[in-house]
Amino acid sequence: MNETPDATTTTATTATAAPSTAPSTASSSRGPLRLAVIVGSTRKGRFAPVPAAWFAARAREHGGFEVDIVDLAEERLPDTLVDDERSIPEPVARLAPRLAAADAFVVVTPEYNHSFPAPLKTAIDWFYTEWQAKPVGFVSYGGVSGGLRSVEHLRGVFNEVYAIPTRDTVCFPNYQDAFGTDGQLLTPDRPNDAAKVMLDRLAWLGHALRNHRADHPFAS
Ligand SMILES: Cc1cc2nc3c(=O)[nH]c(=O)nc-3n(C[C@H](O)[C@H](O)[C@H](O)COP(=O)(O)O)c2cc1C
Repeated sequence: MNETPDATTTTATTATAAPSTAPSTASSSRGPLRLAVIVGSTRKGRFAPVPAAWFAARAREHGGFEVDIVDLAEERLPDTLVDDERSIPEPVARLAPRLAAADAFVVVTPEYNHSFPAPLKTAIDWFYTEWQAKPVGFVSYGGVSGGLRSVEHLRGVFNEVYAIPTRDTVCFPNYQDAFGTDGQLLTPDRPNDAAKVMLDRLAWLGHALRNHRADHPFAS
């Protein structure tokens, strides 16, 4: 289940981000890392809550994280960006402190037409400093591709906002065959192992970056 594609290289261009809405370092440099698990599908009838719940349980089991599930279907971020900090929409202002408080992110994403869902891109674009100098892991699902093409596109996007994608990911090819009707994995060993590897990497990077951000705030 776990596939570990090589990291891609993207060409940096001038960042043109929406106005920052919160400070980039809000978490204490002690204690468990705060992990925001971002549910990337907002589609009616979506499957996303199943892999998201499975992964959140693995993250809580891991012991190194406080888990905050950020479900984009609940956040209802508008899809029209603004260029004036005084007109930040209320859903964006409400989500900003939760992302700013996170020390690490995991994005749970399906694959739509060879890439990731549009609401997920909108969510990334609304914020900027909130992502910076923090690790990002991925749980993907789809048909034969397992959503890996979404992940490859997301690597480039997160690179642009100075987040640090992990090499290790968790992916579910033909996800309908992986989970039972009760939402539990039929053969959990390999996905559980893959989640553990990714969480260990996120913990290492998350602590290193949190400590360094505390001493040297990231310059945007
Ligand atoms: C607009 C759209 C495009 C899709 N394109 C792909 C695709 O390129 N590759 C793939 O593996 N699955 C594709 N699928 C199937 C999705 O993997 C499947 O619908 C999955 O349940 C989507 O996740 P969600 O239910 O959490 O939104 C597509 C689904 C939709 C709705």
